Amino acid sequence: MKHHLLLGAISVALYAGAADNVFNIDMDNIGAEVQPTMYGLFFEDINFAADGGLYGELVKNRSFEFPQNFMGWNILGNVTLMEDGPFERNPHYVRLSYPGHPGRLTGLENEGFFGIGVKQDNEYRFSVRARTVDSDSTKITVQLVDKSSKRTNPVLASTSITVHGKEWAKYTAILRPDQTIDKATLRVLLSKPEQSADLEHISLFPVDTWNGHENGLRRDLVEMLAAIKPGVLRFPGGCIVEGADLPTRYQWKNTVGEVENRPLNENRWNYCHNNRYYPDYFQSYGLGFYEYFLLAEEIGASPLPILNAGMKCQYQNRPDDQLPLDSIRQYIQDALDLIEFANGDTTTTWGALRADMGHPEPFNMKYLGIGNEQWTEIYPRNLEAFIKEIRAAYPDIKIVGSSGPKSDGKEFDYLWPEMTRLGADLVDEHFYRPEEWFLKQGARYDNYDRNGPKVFAGEYACHIRDKKENNFRAAILEAALMTGFERNADVVHMTSYAPLFAHVDGWQWRPDLIWFDNLNTMPTTSFHVQKLYGNYKGDNVVPLTMVGKPVTGAEGQNGLFASAVIEKDSHRLIVKVVNTGYESQEITLNINGVDSPIKSGKVISLTSDEPMAENTIGHPDMIKPVVSPIAINGKDFTTMIPGNSFCLYLFDL
Ligand code: AHR
Repeated sequence: MKHHLLLGAISVALYAGAADNVFNIDMDNIGAEVQPTMYGLFFEDINFAADGGLYGELVKNRSFEFPQNFMGWNILGNVTLMEDGPFERNPHYVRLSYPGHPGRLTGLENEGFFGIGVKQDNEYRFSVRARTVDSDSTKITVQLVDKSSKRTNPVLASTSITVHGKEWAKYTAILRPDQTIDKATLRVLLSKPEQSADLEHISLFPVDTWNGHENGLRRDLVEMLAAIKPGVLRFPGGCIVEGADLPTRYQWKNTVGEVENRPLNENRWNYCHNNRYYPDYFQSYGLGFYEYFLLAEEIGASPLPILNAGMKCQYQNRPDDQLPLDSIRQYIQDALDLIEFANGDTTTTWGALRADMGHPEPFNMKYLGIGNEQWTEIYPRNLEAFIKEIRAAYPDIKIVGSSGPKSDGKEFDYLWPEMTRLGADLVDEHFYRPEEWFLKQGARYDNYDRNGPKVFAGEYACHIRDKKENNFRAAILEAALMTGFERNADVVHMTSYAPLFAHVDGWQWRPDLIWFDNLNTMPTTSFHVQKLYGNYKGDNVVPLTMVGKPVTGAEGQNGLFASAVIEKDSHRLIVKVVNTGYESQEITLNINGVDSPIKSGKVISLTSDEPMAENTIGHPDMIKPVVSPIAINGKDFTTMIPGNSFCLYLFDL
C-alpha cells in the first residue's frame, strides 16, 4: 500500500496542470484491417503445461520409460521391470507376481502430477495393456485412494478387471470417486496373488475432457483458452523447440501416431531454471501435433507451429557450436513433412497418417515459424535454406522468422534486416521487460517499415522489477502496450503473451497467463487483458488522436494510452483507454464522422486500488472486468477514468 501511495504522489506531480484529455476519433478515415490472427496464444510445455496440465492424463510415467523406470510409482510386493513389451519405442512394462505369502500384496501406486485431482461422482477412465503370464486368466483391482484420509477406508473408488490370455490386449474400466480430492493416488493390485499379470501403459483420464475426446485435454483449461477467442495458437514453444541439446529437441514426428508408441522426451525445463529442479519433468507427447492441430481448430485459432532451425539452443550450448549447413537437410524435410501432415491430401504419406488418426480433412495450416530465439549469422544461413525449399513446395505458407531473444540491441538490429532480406513474412519479437520499458513502448511500431515483414509479437509479458509475479500493474502495462499493437494493425499481425500456463506446484517461470492446480483454474489479471482484446478485437482501426498525436503515453499525455477499432457488422465503436497514472482523470471522446447521435454505450473496466494485487487460486475472481452502462450526450462523451486502469468504451452507432 505504501508503494501505491508513493507512486500516486509521483503521478500527481507529473500530471498536475496537464492539458485536457480530449481524444478525437475520426470515423471518416477508417484504417487498417485488424488481422484475425491479431490476439493469439503461445503454448509451451513449461510449468507442467502439457503433462500434468492441459493434457488430461493423470498418471505420471505411465509406460515406465522415465530413466528411473519407477519414478512416480510406489512398488508393493513382487514387481519386476520388463523390457520386451508390445510398443517398440516404449518397451518397458511391469510383471506383477506372487509376493511370497498369501497375506502380502503385489501392486503399484502412482502419485500422479503433484497428486491426482478427482471430483466426486465424476467418471475417470482407467486403461491398461495387459496379459496373463502363467494362467488363462487373472484379475487386477484398481482403486483411487486418499492416503491422507482419516476414514477407516481411504478408498474413493474401486473396480476390478479380469485379464484373459497371454496376448496383450487393452482393458478399460470406469472409476467414480465418492469424494473430491486434489491429491489422490491410483493403486493397481494383483487380485489373485498367485496368478501373475503383465501391465503396460497404465492410464487414467477424466471422461469429461474437452469435447469428450479420449486421450483428451482438461476441459476447464481449454475453456479458458477458448474464452480469449484466440486468432492463432503458437506451439510447441519456446525453448522447448531446441531442447537442452539436439537429441532432446522437439521432433514433431515423435508426437504423432499411436499414443502408446510415442517415445518419451526429457523436458528441458527440468533442471534449467532458478534452482527449481523437476527431475520428473518429461514429455510423453500424448499432447502431440495431432492433438495440437485439433485444439487449434476447435477453439477457432490458426495453427502456428514453430520448428527447430537445425540449431542447438544457444543458451544451453556454445552459441556457435552448430551443425554445418549441409547437415540440416533432415530438419528441412521435417518442416516439409509437417505441412503435408497438416494439409496434404489423404493419398500422401503424412496426410494419410492424419486421416488415420481421425482427421481426413486438412487442418488448413497457413503459418510456419522456423527457429525460436536464435542469433549469430548461422540462423539466417539456415533459415535461407528452409525458405528456399518451403517456398518451392508450398508457396502459400507464410514463414515466421526470429529477431532473437531481445526486443532491441545488437542481435535484434542484425536480425531484422536479415529477415527482410530473406523475405520472411513475419518476424517474431520477444519482450519480457520491466515497467519502465513498457511505459515507453506506446509508439514502438509507429515507424516500422510498412513494406517489410509483418510483426509477430510472439512472447511478451511485463516483469515488474524484483517482483516477477503476476500482478495488476503488469497487466495494466501490457494493456497499454497493446494499444500500440492495435493502432499499428497494418504492421502488427500477430501477438501472444507468454508463457501461457503454470501449475501452482510445479512452475519454473513466472509471471504466466493462467495458473491451475489439479482441480481449479485461476485467471490472472493479464488473462483478463488478453480476453478483453481478443473479444473486442474489432475489424478495422479507427484513428484516435489527442492534440493531433496518437495517444501513446508520450510526454504531456498524462500516462494515457488509447486506440480505437470498429466492428463493422454490429456498427460498434470500441475505444480502449489505459490510464497508467495512479490518479483518476477526466477524458473526453469526440466521435467525429457519425451521422446521428450515439444510441447507447457501456464501459468495461479493469481496475484495482492496489497495483500489486493479484488473483489467487483461492480467490480467482478477486479482480475481474466490470461492465457498466454509460450516458452519452450526442457524439461526445466525457468521463473519469480511474487511476491504474484499463477501460473499454463500447458505443453502438
Ligand atoms: O516463455 C518462456 C521462454 O522465454 C521461452 O521458452 C523462450 O522462447 C523465452 O526465452
